[in-house]
Amino acid sequence: MAKVFEEMESAHQEFIRKQPLFFVATAPLDAAGHVNLSPKGYDTLRVLSSKRIAYLDLTGSGNETSAHLAENGRITFTFCSFSGTAQILRLYGEGRTVLPGSEEWAELLPLFPTIPGTRQIIVAEIHRVQTSCGYAVPLMEFKGERETFRKWAESAGEEKLEAGRKEKNVVSLDGLRTPLGMG
Ligand SMILES: Cc1cc2nc3c(=O)[nH]c(=O)nc-3n(C[C@H](O)[C@H](O)[C@H](O)COP(=O)(O)O)c2cc1C
Repeated sequence: MAKVFEEMESAHQEFIRKQPLFFVATAPLDAAGHVNLSPKGYDTLRVLSSKRIAYLDLTGSGNETSAHLAENGRITFTFCSFSGTAQILRLYGEGRTVLPGSEEWAELLPLFPTIPGTRQIIVAEIHRVQTSCGYAVPLMEFKGERETFRKWAESAGEEKLEAGRKEKNVVSLDGLRTPLGMG
């Protein structure tokens, strides 16, 4: 049976902090639009309070989450236990993008490790926390972070990454503008 909470209690926060992987789901309002589900890794997630979470978002070939948040704000995070006690935890919230150069960016960035290719920070206000059993989630061992992104971003260099973001990260698959494309 799923259990519902209004905020992330301390056990939830502890569980979230331990996960090396989380998933982020967003969707456009248009029912024919593409729903996005992204896996996120590295040490990029921070619980800011019992009702607020943030993650450092890295450069990619698309920018779906940010586009959907700019349009409608809805976001769901999923965390699951791949070892030890089974558990799935979902956070339902309202998210937004914080871009480099803003006052909030300067406040939040020091909370994260320095990762080349950092693109933006996603902040979400959480209004519903839901846990469920996770009995059918496989048992897996964490072998380590994948260094591929860091190496890729380092070898590309910030100038090339910035040019790539201006080209590929300004609209979603469905043509919604992202904050990177609104400046
Ligand atoms: C070097 C590189 C690394 C990527 N890593 C991820 C990743 O870890 N997770 C992911 O969902 N997409 C990754 N992508 C794919 C795109 O960024 C994808 O368009 C993105 O997931 C869109 O959703 P987002 O807005 O959540 O980033 C990567 C792309 C590139 C070029």
